[in-house]
Amino acid sequence: MPSITVENLNLHYGSFHALKNVSSYFKERTITALIGPSGCGKSTLLRCLNRMNDLIDGVRIDGRVLIGDKDIYSPGTNLIQLRKEAGMVFQRPNPFPLSILENVLFGLKIHGQMPAQKRGQFERAEKALTAVGLWEALKEKLLQSALDLTLEQQQRLCIARIVALESSIVLMDEPCSALDPMATEKIESLMLQLKEKYTIVIVTHNMQQAARISDETGFMLLGELLEFGITGQIFTKPRDERTNDYITGRYG
Ligand SMILES: Nc1ncnc2c1ncn2[C@@H]1O[C@H](COP(=O)(O)OP(=O)(O)OP(=O)(O)O)[C@@H](O)[C@H]1O
Ligand SMILES: [Mg+2]
Repeated sequence: MPSITVENLNLHYGSFHALKNVSSYFKERTITALIGPSGCGKSTLLRCLNRMNDLIDGVRIDGRVLIGDKDIYSPGTNLIQLRKEAGMVFQRPNPFPLSILENVLFGLKIHGQMPAQKRGQFERAEKALTAVGLWEALKEKLLQSALDLTLEQQQRLCIARIVALESSIVLMDEPCSALDPMATEKIESLMLQLKEKYTIVIVTHNMQQAARISDETGFMLLGELLEFGITGQIFTKPRDERTNDYITGRYG
């Protein structure tokens, strides 16, 4: 699985300069957390990593984002392939109003990779649901609606959709903010398990969460990536006073 390199990335929403010359490196088999006050550009940066900002009117982006050694902003980039390689998990779980099975296999279907035989389909679903810890609970209920699952299960299912596609990068934008503490803990332990096989970038408001699960942390402020480093260092010996102010709760 590839690492992600961000070089001198600038993003404007119309005349608003939302990302200011951001450079960073997201390692493979690593969880990197992006923290910072509301509106500092965390989600914007995350969405640059699979070009989801392209969909927004009036966006201007310059700089480079490399996945492995490929610049995803170069003209030849296949966006469908890119979003398959780098899947996104959102704040609110967003299962489709379909069965559990159809949800897991959805990506395979739209990418034309659905196994022809039912048996092959079930095998893919079993593998993905096992990876996210849902198989035992749901194997008898695969044809039931995904919307009837608990929020935690729905969030796992959204992660299973990415796993089924054999993506290599998981981008998570506050994936636990709709969940209670118990569910949060379970999703966190799932992330720790998944990191063996993925490059994971997580945006979180929850500093304890960043400290618990991430290996590296970036602190953003007003569109800049102010500080980036090993999580333990960021939380105990930040280099920048503004990072210190944030982690000690002096910012909103
Ligand atoms: N589609 C958009 N059009 C114009 N401005 C936007 C758009 N999306 C975000 N912004 C602005 O860009 C800045 C960064 O937003 P972003 O959502 O990346 O911040 P964030 O750090 O994720 O905040 P939060 O913690 O509240 O989710 C904010 O000032 C926001 O208002
Ligand atoms: Mg955000």
